Amino acid sequence: MAAPQMIAEPLTRIRPSEIEWEALGTHGITRKRLGYDEASGYVTALVNIPVGWHGGGIAHYHHAFEEVFMLSGSVTVGGTHYWKAGDYFYRPAQVVHGHDERAEEGATALIRSDGPLALLLIHEPDEPDEYPLPAYDDGRGHLYSLPVDEVEWIADPEFPAEWRIRPLSTDARDGARTVMVDIPAGWTASGTGRPAAWEACLLDGGVKGEKADFAVGDYSAGPAGTEVFGALSSENGCRLILWLFAPDRAA
Ligand SMILES: [Fe+2]
Repeated sequence: MAAPQMIAEPLTRIRPSEIEWEALGTHGITRKRLGYDEASGYVTALVNIPVGWHGGGIAHYHHAFEEVFMLSGSVTVGGTHYWKAGDYFYRPAQVVHGHDERAEEGATALIRSDGPLALLLIHEPDEPDEYPLPAYDDGRGHLYSLPVDEVEWIADPEFPAEWRIRPLSTDARDGARTVMVDIPAGWTASGTGRPAAWEACLLDGGVKGEKADFAVGDYSAGPAGTEVFGALSSENGCRLILWLFAPDRAA
């Protein structure tokens, strides 16, 4: 399957301040769609959860995965576990969740899913917290909660030698992966592209790309063969979240 095309013009800048908030569901959550593929239903969005938010309170599951990187605030599940700024999680399709979700202080997050998140309700859940249904099948597994700051920075031969990455999740079957990237100040490109289509969002610093300059919060996407953001250089360094689709074996 070819990777979805998340934005109309690869390597262009999608800036959240230029997008209107839209309602997501009926419980006060709003979002700004950053990337979207009409054909597959893939959506990557900046999501705002209001202060005092209380989810529907009914356990449910979806036919799409939910991949989340928390930017600010916190979300509580079951009154005990907190997802806080800097936490990452990957919840596959067919995982029952949402028994009791709240956000006392509100939260913002980057949320990605590979299809519509229609609620399929489970009125009598088998367990008090998240659990997989028999139909569960996902090459990344269920990553309940990962504090990204605790993941070691490593060099990775798939990236320029100066870059450091933190692996967050990897699909063991098709090689799709999500990483945090650190590009050092003064880096300049040597001219190789990614072997996989990608999406990225800048968390801090700045990067100069082929088509635009990128600052904190900016998003872009591109096909296999292009570098992340079309990066040419980073004067002061930067950090970003990078979502890589399955490598294009033909590229
Ligand atoms: Fe849900």
